[in-house]
Amino acid sequence: NRRYTIAVIPGDGIGKEVVPEGVRVLECAAALYGFTVEQRWHDFASCDYYARHGRMMPEDWKERIGSPDAIFFGAVGWPETVPDHISLWGSLLQFRREYDQYVNLRPARLLPGVPSPLAGREPGSIDFWIVRENTEGEYSSVGGHMFAGTDREVVIQETVMTRFGVDRVLRYAFDLANRRPNRHLTSATKSNGIAITMPFWDQRVEAMAARYPDVRWDKYHIDILTAQFVLNPDRFDVVVASNLFGDILSDLGPACTGTIGVAPSGNINPDGTHPSLFEPVHGSAPDIAGKGIANPVGQIWSAAMMLDHLGETAAAAAIMAAIETVLKEPGLRTADLKGKAGTEACGKAIAEALR
Ligand code: NAD
Ligand code: IPM
Ligand code: MN
Repeated sequence: NRRYTIAVIPGDGIGKEVVPEGVRVLECAAALYGFTVEQRWHDFASCDYYARHGRMMPEDWKERIGSPDAIFFGAVGWPETVPDHISLWGSLLQFRREYDQYVNLRPARLLPGVPSPLAGREPGSIDFWIVRENTEGEYSSVGGHMFAGTDREVVIQETVMTRFGVDRVLRYAFDLANRRPNRHLTSATKSNGIAITMPFWDQRVEAMAARYPDVRWDKYHIDILTAQFVLNPDRFDVVVASNLFGDILSDLGPACTGTIGVAPSGNINPDGTHPSLFEPVHGSAPDIAGKGIANPVGQIWSAAMMLDHLGETAAAAAIMAAIETVLKEPGLRTADLKGKAGTEACGKAIAEALR
């Protein structure tokens, strides 16, 4: 019997509403496909935990998490009580760095039945992967804040790129492009303005491309690339980007395919030295939290990505098919897709479709 230990961390806001739906579908897939999921729930990495303990996670969080096969994460952040940079650097960004999850893999796919805000786009016409660098780049703690509160105040935040760090994410992206039918890779750059790190990024892309003669590749500056996402999303296959550019593109891509509420992500440690973490792209959505109306599809699709990662490819494909079946029914969609279904009704419908 195949058995997987999964650390389940709901976090804050709608994370606590969508994670149970993800787990519901996961359990259902396990029963149908003959494997077992052992869940280990944790209440840390949340602002509730912060309120009780004055920190986002216990000092021994790594011991508490142990070595699960994967981490199933909701969302974190409650800016009303904890400033976002404190809550995120104290939790999610720790996981990404400490577990060396250097790839953040995020699909943009127009699913059947989901209306795109872009005119004339058919299901299947938008289908690409964003490969976001996830451990360095613009997300850095190198810098300083001097003369605070005076009129000489200075703030500096350095972008850090290492050859090791850039090359490994590029290798992952080129490998992925090489396995796709179109074998096309696009690099997001800004080497015209960000004149030290971005020319370096371009240079490493060129060096990596030389090792993948079958992959066609191009690059766009990030400004025009955002326009291309909206104007010609069918042009993309694999898009590789630095940490910040990848963050921005991975809200824009899913928005072009209907709603960020369906977008999943894998924070992947491809070397297998640490667990990978699967979570929706969206955040804790304080504006709709507690109402039971959040779209659970991003969380459920993240469960499918997690199963794919664990080698349960048939179960993963079945979850995707169930998601598509349900999204084709306007009555089973949530409010962000102009439907009337609540989080639980939508999650239950997907579990039902899976059966
Ligand atoms: P957000 O993604 O939480 O919300 C943006 C908008 O999208 C909101 O209007 C929200 O209602 C809507 N939305 C998001 N997910 C939805 C869903 N599943 N169904 C329906 N509507 C959905 O982004 P934000 O408002 O910028 O951030 C809120 C908090 O979440 C902040 O604390 C932020 O730092 C945090 N955050 C966390 C993560 C994460 O844990 N990975 C990601 C992004 C933001
Ligand atoms: C995401 C989020 C995080 C990020 C924030 C909450 C730090 O926006 O996962 O996309 O910027 O990576
Ligand atoms: Mn983001």
